[in-house]
Order: sequence, then structure tokens, then C-alpha cells
Amino acid sequence: MREQYEHETQYHVNIEYETRSHYDKITGIDLPKLLVFKCSVSDTLHIDLGERSYPIRFVADLPKALATAGLAPGGRKGSDVLLTDAVLQASQVALLDAVFAGVPRLVLPAGEKTKTLEFFGRVLDFLAAQGIARGGVLWVVGGGVMGDLGGFAAASYLRGISHVQIPTTLLAMVDSSIGGKTGVNLSAGKNLVGAFHHPRAVFICPQFLNTLPPREFAAGMAEVIKYGLLGDAALFAQLENHVLQPDSRDMLPIIRRCCELKAEIVQADERETAAVGGRALLNLGHTFGHAIEQATNFTAYLHGEAVAVGLAGAARLSARLGLLGPADVQRVDQVVKAHSLPARLRTPLPTAALMAAMQHDKKVRAGKLRFVVLPRLGEAATRDEVDPTLVEAVWRELGAT
Ligand SMILES: NC(=O)c1ccc[n+]([C@@H]2O[C@H](COP(=O)([O-])OP(=O)(O)OC[C@H]3O[C@@H](n4cnc5c(N)ncnc54)[C@H](O)[C@@H]3O)[C@@H](O)[C@H]2O)c1
Ligand SMILES: [Zn+2]
Repeated sequence: MREQYEHETQYHVNIEYETRSHYDKITGIDLPKLLVFKCSVSDTLHIDLGERSYPIRFVADLPKALATAGLAPGGRKGSDVLLTDAVLQASQVALLDAVFAGVPRLVLPAGEKTKTLEFFGRVLDFLAAQGIARGGVLWVVGGGVMGDLGGFAAASYLRGISHVQIPTTLLAMVDSSIGGKTGVNLSAGKNLVGAFHHPRAVFICPQFLNTLPPREFAAGMAEVIKYGLLGDAALFAQLENHVLQPDSRDMLPIIRRCCELKAEIVQADERETAAVGGRALLNLGHTFGHAIEQATNFTAYLHGEAVAVGLAGAARLSARLGLLGPADVQRVDQVVKAHSLPARLRTPLPTAALMAAMQHDKKVRAGKLRFVVLPRLGEAATRDEVDPTLVEAVWRELGAT
């Protein structure tokens, strides 16, 4: 028996249930108690960017969802290739084999060191060697590193082919797979070369989170907390009440809410050209966070961990600007810490080095420090020309010397 109905949160929920009538016969127990529910949430968020529009599909069962969407990759020569990293290849082999049987696979080393021009060239060579033509599809399964590298290769090969993103880290699910930014690092700095190139589709399947290391999951949570702070007070309150885990029932709806918040912002300011607010709001906590990453040479903190300290910093700066009260700052700290993230520097760093790193941030306009601040928890705004002495005071509160 199969029913479909619209859930109150507008998810289309397919519930399949089978009656175990043989149990009934054997045990004589009431039939309703023995209904076995197999519940799969399948839901789509449409990113509306004119001819560059595409769907983000939230799926519980990836092979089934791809087949249903008529998008399952085929093994026909020149039609599809898969890009993934070695850690995923090892930890999610069953899922990859189920979806990508017979599809040529390029497996690259895991981690940020692979987001380079050298590996970008390797992906292009692989596409060419497999005879991928304009109609071919590059399937990118991985975190933000594979997503940015693969997306950039898809943007450049034959001046642009289709790619499908299947993000596997929480960070990639709520952030890097949406918005069309692709690229690689140069030795002069992160993300210095790249292109805007939107995927044909994104499939988000929380099954992947089962094998994600806890530290990586926590780092992704920093971005989730960021979305609550910048645009959804109810989401923030939800995180205050329940510490989110990879297998939480709320996981998929919360990922969806984050994607929705990012999509709204990206749709309104696709190329980050808005004079106030706009896409820059997504940088809440990032001016502080990037400075920490830079001052520690990208070795001591994962991006999300640095952003977590940055969120605590943004809350303190907002308090110093008279926007938030001390109780709000405490609430931010508590949610951050409850999700196994740092709200202060782990070891002291010199304030001068952190201030200098802020000046190097790509987002600095004409030498003026620009911050995303919180008029209240759940709403963000950009603020130009913040007094540097306030920022220094915040760094000291965060444990800088
Ligand atoms: N394009 C954008 O808009 C955007 C936004 C934010 C971040 N980024 C970029 O994203 C990158 C960071 O992404 P990330 O944090 O996903 O890092 P990542 O891709 O390096 O993944 C982190 C680690 O987790 C492993 N991993 C991934 N999924 C796994 C899984 N399901 N099970 C087990 N292990 C798994 C990876 O192999 C890797 O070792 C940075 O390069 C950053 O610049 C891009
Ligand atoms: Zn980030």
C-alpha cells in the first residue's frame, strides 16, 4: 500500500508500509502495531537563476533518487565520469559502486592540498582521455575541495560542460555546493583563481554523514549555526535546544533550511555586487575566522573551527556596537561550544598579527574593514568603517594577546 501526502513543512513524504500479516497470524497481536514504516523524504529546492537554474534534491536513498530523476549516470563511453577523493573512495565504496558502476572514476588525494592548478590539470586530462564531449557530465562526489576543483574543471573543459554535485561533508551540503563559486588555490593565496559555474543538479544525501569524522561534522556545524544567526532565529533556537548529530531526525530539514537561506541570498546577489547586505552576509564570522586561519598558516584550525571563533567575535563586536546584549553573546558562545566547537582561540595569538591578517582579507574594500554584525540573533547586516580599537578589544576577549 502506498500513500503520498503533503507534510506540514511541505515535504513530500512517501510512506511505504507493508503489513506483516504472517506475524498477525502467528502471534495474534493487533495488526496496526506491526505496520513497518519505510519513510523516505524526497524534496526539491529550486535555485532560480534564469537559464542557470537548477534543482537541489534532498534524498534519503541516493541510487533510487537518481534513477527516479532519470539522471542515473551511464557507463556509455564519453557520457559520464566520476571525480572523488581517496578517503571517500575508501569509506563509501558500497554507495559509490551502487551508483557509479561502470563509470570511469578519477580518485584524487583528499584534502586542501589537492585544490591546485596541478590537480585541476589532472581532472581536465582525465575528461579528455575519457572522450567527454560537450554533452558529457562530470559527477563530483566529495567535500568542498572536490566540489570547487571539479566545478572549476567543468567550467573550463570545452568552455563548460555539465556537472552534478553530490556533497559529502556537512560544510559542502550547506555551503560550498550552492552558489556556483568554483576554483583552486594559488601559492599566493586561497581561491585566487576560479569561475562562477552552477551545477546541473545537486543531490544531498545525509547517508554520507555516517562516515564523516566528528571533527569535520562539527566544522560544518559552524556554518549551520551561522545560518541561524544571520537569518533564522527559530533555527538558532532549535540548535540551542538540541545539539545536532549526524543521525538526528532533524538533520535533513535543517540542511534544507540552510540551503534555502543561502539560495535566497545568492539569488538576490548572484555576483556579490550589492552595496550593503547581499551575499556578503554569508561572511558572518568569516572576517575573524579568515584572520585566524591565516595567522595560524591554515594548520591549527579547520575552516569551520575558525568560523566558530569568528561567530563568537561577531557577537562581541555587535555588543560593542550596542546591537546585542551580554545575554545574546552568551547564547552564541553556548551553542558554539555545545556543538564541540571553540568559542575562543585555543592558544593565544598576537592581536597585531590578527589585525594585519584582516587587512589582507579579499573582502576588505579600499583598506576599510567591513564586518557582518548582528542587529539581533537571527538577523545580519553589513557595517563599514568599524573602529579598529573595537576590533582589537574583541580579539582580546577572544583570547588574543
Ligand atoms: N565554493 C564555495 O562557495 C565554498 C564555500 C565554502 C567552502 N569552500 C571550500 O570548501 C573546502 C572545504 O570543504 P570541506 O570542509 O568539505 O573539506 P574537504 O573536501 O577537504 O573534506 C574534508 C575531509 O573529509 C573527508 N570526507 C568528505 N566526505 C566524507 C564522508 N562522507 N565520509 C568520510 N570522509 C569524508 C574528505 O576526504 C576530507 O579528508 C575549502 O577548500 C573551501 O575553500 C567553498
Ligand atoms: Zn565558511
